[in-house]
Amino acid sequence: MHFARMQVDDLTEVLAIEYAIYPYPWTRGNFLDSLYSGYETWVLRDMPGMLLGYFLLMLAVDEAHLLNITVRTDSQGRGIGCMLLDKVVALSRGKNMQSLLLEVRPSNQRALKVYQHYGFSQIGVRRNYYPAARNAREDAIVMRLPL
Ligand SMILES: CC(C)(COP(=O)(O)OP(=O)(O)OC[C@H]1O[C@@H](n2cnc3c(N)ncnc32)[C@H](O)[C@@H]1OP(=O)(O)O)[C@@H](O)C(=O)NCCC(=O)NCCS
Repeated sequence: MHFARMQVDDLTEVLAIEYAIYPYPWTRGNFLDSLYSGYETWVLRDMPGMLLGYFLLMLAVDEAHLLNITVRTDSQGRGIGCMLLDKVVALSRGKNMQSLLLEVRPSNQRALKVYQHYGFSQIGVRRNYYPAARNAREDAIVMRLPL
């Protein structure tokens, strides 16, 4: 497996995964904005070149903010999410970040468990942060990992 910086040419594959997984996916425009904003945007591929996962990370002063982390459905539960998190942490430490923040839906029990096992703790809740079904909104749990 190998990491590479996400390129515009990766977006067809990235968007296929994004749209397959999330009911409210990031759009091509959202990804392009992140690429052009200079965020840390990376993909992980296996040796034949299949895209396994990706993440987008914003670095601000001394706090890194994980905006998106996704593993393709048929590759989940095999340690790839942890590999992505290891890369996120290494990049953040390399830029002298003091902490890593992320938001997660309370309904996303799987991701919550992965983050807790990785060492993140809940530090707050953002009310009505995410869109949800029937025009409702869902809170976000804010989690932090000290670096
Ligand atoms: C959340 C997500 C990124 C985690 O990635 P993942 O690859 O599934 O996670 P991992 O495989 O690294 O860890 C999942 C579990 O597998 C276990 N695991 C790790 N290596 C393993 C291996 N080699 N074989 C089997 N299981 C393994 C981990 O211990 C972990 O167990 P836990 O759930 O009891 O903590 C991924 O599931 C995903 O993309 N989900 C959909 C999108 C999403 O929700 N993104 C996050 C939004 S906030």
